[in-house]
Amino acid sequence: MVCNICDRIIDVRVRRASVRDLDTVYNIEVLSFRNPYPKALLEFYLNLYGDLFLVAEVYGQVVGYIIGVIKWGVLGHILSIAVHPNFRRRGIGSALLREEEYIMKCRGVKVIRLEVRVSNKPAIAMYRKFGYTIAFIKPHYYEDGEDAYVMFKILS
Ligand SMILES: CC(C)(COP(=O)(O)OP(=O)(O)OC[C@H]1O[C@@H](n2cnc3c(N)ncnc32)[C@H](O)[C@@H]1OP(=O)(O)O)[C@@H](O)C(=O)NCCC(=O)NCCS
Repeated sequence: MVCNICDRIIDVRVRRASVRDLDTVYNIEVLSFRNPYPKALLEFYLNLYGDLFLVAEVYGQVVGYIIGVIKWGVLGHILSIAVHPNFRRRGIGSALLREEEYIMKCRGVKVIRLEVRVSNKPAIAMYRKFGYTIAFIKPHYYEDGEDAYVMFKILS
């Protein structure tokens, strides 16, 4: 169901990913990134950080995912987040990020860090909306030479 006022999809279910989701997650990955993670890497993350590898479902269809990791017990790191192009700007990325932050906070995380292409305006806008701030630039961080912003959020 879609909200008449804000156009958000209301029936979004965020849950832990399973191995059965990997093909769909990989498809979203390929549709979303210039240098997608190989499926084997997604499987590696699922095996290693399964409780922070979440998917968003709409009517039983996986339409987005987020992968995170916790370092040293207190530092959360968002490794990847993507929503299928047909489902963007409907609140799904926000639902994923919100749940990931909640789980990290429950596990003792104090600060969350992420990297984002300096040209990725939609993602930067979402992170800013969630309270992330740009700390510094990592020059030539991506394979094609583009710089990354490193953004942080302190969890209150
Ligand atoms: C970034 C991404 C995950 C956002 O997912 P989404 O489901 O579209 O995000 P939401 O609908 O929850 O939007 C949340 C906020 O992000 C910002 N935003 C999202 N898309 C935007 C766009 N195209 N232009 C400007 N701001 C945008 C807005 O602030 C938005 O809030 P609003 O709709 O109330 O204005 C999605 O665009 C995506 O999958 N991009 C490709 C993969 C990617 O770049 N991942 C990030 C890697 S660092």
